[in-house]
Amino acid sequence: MSFPQGFFWGGALAANQVEGAWNVDGKGPSVADVATYKPNTDVKDYKAHMTINDELIEQAMQSKDDTFYPKRRGIDFYHRYKEDLALFAEMGFTMLRVSIAWTRIFPTGEEAEPNEKGLQFYTDLFTEMRRLGIEPLVTLSHYEMPLALATKYNGWVDRRVIECFTRFCHVCFVRYKDLVKYWLTFNEVDSIIRHPFTTAGIIPSRVPEDKLLETCYQALHHQLVASALVVKDCHEIIPGSKVGCMLTKLTTYARTCAPDDELATQAKTLENLFYADVHVWGEYPRLILKMFERKGITLHTEPGDAEILKAGCVDFVSCSYYMTMTESVDPNAERTPGNTVLGVKNPYLATSDWGWQIDPKGLRYSLIELYDRYRLPLMVVENGVGAKDTVEPDGSIHDPYRIEYFRQHISEMGKAIDEGVEMWGYTSWAPIDLISASTNQMSKRYGFIYVDQDDMGNGTLARSRKDSFAWYKKVIATNGTDLT
Ligand code: BG6
Repeated sequence: MSFPQGFFWGGALAANQVEGAWNVDGKGPSVADVATYKPNTDVKDYKAHMTINDELIEQAMQSKDDTFYPKRRGIDFYHRYKEDLALFAEMGFTMLRVSIAWTRIFPTGEEAEPNEKGLQFYTDLFTEMRRLGIEPLVTLSHYEMPLALATKYNGWVDRRVIECFTRFCHVCFVRYKDLVKYWLTFNEVDSIIRHPFTTAGIIPSRVPEDKLLETCYQALHHQLVASALVVKDCHEIIPGSKVGCMLTKLTTYARTCAPDDELATQAKTLENLFYADVHVWGEYPRLILKMFERKGITLHTEPGDAEILKAGCVDFVSCSYYMTMTESVDPNAERTPGNTVLGVKNPYLATSDWGWQIDPKGLRYSLIELYDRYRLPLMVVENGVGAKDTVEPDGSIHDPYRIEYFRQHISEMGKAIDEGVEMWGYTSWAPIDLISASTNQMSKRYGFIYVDQDDMGNGTLARSRKDSFAWYKKVIATNGTDLT
């Protein structure tokens, strides 16, 4: 049998995409609260959706109308979490990945004392999860840093943000030590170079264009140092806790077997993996330091950074996995979008409505690659497909495309386990419809549970079960043996 006894099955969410209640109970604004829904923009152009500058931030903060700022309302999980957890429990979840909104605890990131109402919300949430037998997997930073730190310091570019973040994490560990054992530090830490504002509060227009990449790597260095400090702190405060890193697994195949295509692909792969390398090995790979040199990138580090990185290595490796792409040195090769990337099209794969190339076997490939490299237990903490759903007159929602996507991916994950990969769990993205991270759409639906809300925020927010709900329930009940 592929899936080991005690394998965690569940789903994954991020606070900024579900909670709403953006200015309730003392919460401060986060970078997500200025993310704008742009109805007339091509959904395959993620960069256009994620554009930000000081003027747009100012405009957003002046706006009294939240219609175009959908992450401010999310799906109102803040008030409806009990109903949602009950549905997850009905599906048999044994794990739910959630994140803690930093700005509920420290509204600007720099307060002397944490906000008790924010802390209490997560105490209540984790307590309810435990009551239902759902193990929390908690991300400490998932695209929701305080806006105040972004505008004041240009986010993680400034080293002082390390102290703000580690203090926030420390407060969380002390408060939730009896409720949470599994933690992730940064969601998709590698995404900093693809969307620096969302990931690290960097306002790109403040940085000369030719310095942007270097600035991102500098901010990344601060995040890696912070992550290592946090891993160590968590281990000290919560004995037996497990802290993981989280990578966007952007697996890339060579478009052809031409050696130049292979070399370009290898470079991409090394770049994608190096973020996890630092988390796992506690040092930068030599090949990456050389790449920095070639690109004229100089990182400012402080004495002691190397020791900090070494002392805060992670216990497990996790990733999101949605799609793969290919690489080619041919400038005319046809391209297609993926998860905040533009890759070369693979003629053997189908694409989603958003252009992402669907590749179940790529998941098996990726898990084998990660396990062979790191020899640490793995978790897939995001995997799913964004699709448009239709509600039938009788209220039912038939989503065979989603079932097929999950069926094939879970099957390939099982084969990877059969081949020797050690895995702890799988949390699908997302078990309930939520606001898209990149396009801020509600209509890009991922859930087994439908939420009645459109892109502009109209709807009752009522929850209903799609066909995939019963299917995933059966998968969990049979520990992944019945995927029919
Ligand atoms: C991951 C993010 O990259 O992809 C999630 O961690 C995000 O926050 C998910 O929602 C899917 O992307 P999107 O843009 O379709 O929401």
